[in-house]
Parts: sequence; C-alpha cells; structure tokens
Amino acid sequence: MSPRTTPVLDPDLESGLRRLKLAAVRRMAPEVLQTAKVQRWAPDELLRTLVEAEIAARDASNEATRRRAAGFPVSRRLEDFALAESSVPRATFDYLTALEWIEAAENVVLVGPAGTGKSHILLGLGEAAVVAGRRVRYLAAAGLVETLYRGLADNSVGRVIEGLLRHDLVIIDDLGFAPLDDAGSQLLFRFVAAAYEHRSLGVASHWPFESWGRFLPEHTTAVALLDRLLHHATTIVTSGDSYRMKEARQRGGGLLTKA
Ligand SMILES: Nc1ncnc2c1ncn2[C@@H]1O[C@H](COP(=O)(O)OP(=O)(O)OP(=O)(O)O)[C@@H](O)[C@H]1O
Ligand SMILES: [Mg+2]
Repeated sequence: MSPRTTPVLDPDLESGLRRLKLAAVRRMAPEVLQTAKVQRWAPDELLRTLVEAEIAARDASNEATRRRAAGFPVSRRLEDFALAESSVPRATFDYLTALEWIEAAENVVLVGPAGTGKSHILLGLGEAAVVAGRRVRYLAAAGLVETLYRGLADNSVGRVIEGLLRHDLVIIDDLGFAPLDDAGSQLLFRFVAAAYEHRSLGVASHWPFESWGRFLPEHTTAVALLDRLLHHATTIVTSGDSYRMKEARQRGGGLLTKA
C-alpha cells in the first residue's frame, strides 16, 4: 500500500456530515483536524474554525443564488461609478448606498438622457443589496409588462405581482422606451400600487416626469402611478453627455466625435 498523503475522515463522520449537509466542514475537516493535532489547538478553536468555515461557505452560496435570481443583465458596481463625472449629488449617492431606503420600502427613481448612469446606479445598488442579504429582481420595463400580460392571459396577475414583490427591491429599467397600451398601463399601475409603501422599486426612464404621458396614454393612470411612485422616493435627474460617447471619444474612434 502507498503511504497516505492526504488525511481522510472516518467513513461514519464523513457520512454524518454529508447527512447534515455540512459540506464545508466535510471538505475541510481532514486538514483542519490534522493541523489541530500537530499545533495542539484548544478544542473550542477547532470547533470555531469548522463552524466559521461552514457559515462563510453558506453565506457565499446564498449570495451567489441571490445574484443569479436577480437577473442582472450586466454587472455594475457602485465603486466603479465616477461620481464627480456625473450630475448625481454626493449626499444623494451616499444616502442611496447606505441602503436604508430599502428597509423603509422607499423608491429610487432616475430620469435623464441616454448614457448618464441611470442603469449603472440601479445595477450597482442592486448588487450592493444582494451583498447585504437582500432579495433583488431586475426587469426591463418591457419584460415586466410582458410578464404581467402573460398573467392576464391565464388569470394569474395577482400571483405574478405577489411573486415579484417577495423581493425587497424590484428594479424596473428603461421605462418608457416603448409606449404602453391601455391594458399595459393598467398592469403597470397595478404593480406600482401593490408595491406602494410595501416594497422598494428602483426605476429608470429617459423621459422627464412631465412627459410620462407619452408612454402612459391614460392621463389619470399616469398621474396616479407617479403619485405612488414618488411619494416616498429619492429622485435623481441625471444630465450631461453620454458616458458611452465620452468613452468612445477617449478611445479616439467613433463616428460620433464631437466637433
Ligand atoms: N459616472 C459614471 N462612472 C462610470 N461609468 C459610467 C458613469 N456613467 C455611466 N457610466 C457607464 O456608461 C455606460 C452607460 O451608462 P448607463 O447604462 O448607466 O446609462 P443609462 O443612463 O442607463 O442610459 P440609457 O438611458 O441609454 O439606458 C455604462 O457602461 C456605465 O457603466
Ligand atoms: Mg439604462
């Protein structure tokens, strides 16, 4: 027989840990037990090392699950947002990054032209919320309305809305890219009304509020929706040149170079 190089656990311990689903303990125990023996660890130190390893592994796996469930189309971090190059006030940014508004079921609504960081901020806040243990769901507005429409078809709109509002934060990006018909507006209103004072919404649109009638055809619906959305909300009006264009210019290329 060749000499055993890596320590292994006794089969009964191994199967007990498997049954208890203590995967990190099972993976680490052979090495840790050997180190503990050689270095004469106190028993509680050994236990603590294994327990902490299991907790860290579970936290990481839960975070990864939450991130997958959020459905972010791309990854954006708040740390990478150049605040000084944006029109977002420092105090507002700091308030949002503290994430207490999610606890308070408040909203964040960003309006402004293309490429001014609306999605970056929403995605960055979503990622920060995931790391902080929150359940987040990202949807483009068109996707949300489509999902609600499907619910309408099989009479499950209520359940669909309930399912979405199990998340602590629902992000609705690109609101107003496509105009909504009457049924679509009603569905969106129903969703915003259900979330009102109950869950946080993060919304981005390139239309200033006074123009929301352009994609919400029914005036009363547009007013009632904005009323609920903005009652407990941080609003940010972004402005300036598109960051995409700025980057393209810096790379020295592009057809859209400014004169
Ligand atoms: N202040 C900033 N610092 C760093 N990156 C930025 C900043 N503003 C925008 N960007 C980057 O520029 C790109 C465009 O920004 P973003 O997607 O957030 O724009 P938007 O306002 O959502 O535009 P649209 O209305 O077209 O969706 C992204 O890659 C984003 O990460
Ligand atoms: Mg965007």
